Amino acid sequence: MRHGRRPGGGDYFPVFPYPSYNAMRAEDAVAIKAYLFALAPIERPNKAHDVAAPFSCRWTIGLWKWLFFAPGPWLDRAERDAAWNRGGYLVHALAYCGECHTARNFMGAMQPSGFLAGTSYGPDGELVPNITPDLGTGIGDLNEADIVQLLRDGTKPDYDDVQGSMAEAIRDGLGYLNDEDLNAIARYLRTVPAIVHRVESRAKN
Ligand code: HEC
Repeated sequence: MRHGRRPGGGDYFPVFPYPSYNAMRAEDAVAIKAYLFALAPIERPNKAHDVAAPFSCRWTIGLWKWLFFAPGPWLDRAERDAAWNRGGYLVHALAYCGECHTARNFMGAMQPSGFLAGTSYGPDGELVPNITPDLGTGIGDLNEADIVQLLRDGTKPDYDDVQGSMAEAIRDGLGYLNDEDLNAIARYLRTVPAIVHRVESRAKN
């Protein structure tokens, strides 16, 4: 689990992608379970939860879900082709890009109006860039091939490398995707609404 910082300081928000995983299709959840249960068992006691109050308090999850949670799997859009829909499914559900790239409200829920528009309060206090197609403040200057390259090995068109939790997301997950899925993500990303949002460094506190 990763932690994002609360605006105004204070504790880090837990960034656990369960609201995004909720959009996962049942057959994919079943496939993940089959894979996990085929791994060699390791005997090690579980660690205690290290989530700060009020999130450590289980009953508050019910309230939070009532306020912010929209259950149900990703639904394909009939007017879009298969690649776009696959990209949308991966971005929203399995690859949960929004969990890091979207600002959160004061209760830690993603703000739908800022979907993928970046945040200064990302995991471990990181700056997370705007990845909507806005030219000035987002990634409107990257084409689909650039995005595929970046998701595959972390290199940007200027030969710089992505750092921090994005480098981890690529090393541990995105880098394993096949070309078809990477192309689908890039394709979908180019079509999300462009949001003008410059991600600034936070004032030191
Ligand atoms: C665990 C958090 C996390 C997840 C999940 C995540 N990202 Fe990122 N991403 C980051 C961070 C942090 C950066 C900034 C890295 C840096 O500064 O070098 C970043 C950078 C990027 C960039 C480079 C933007 C630029 O302006 O250079 C792109 C493109 C990107 N992410 C796309 C995605 C996509 C698409 C997904 C989902 C498939 C995704 N990210 C999932 C945290 C994340």
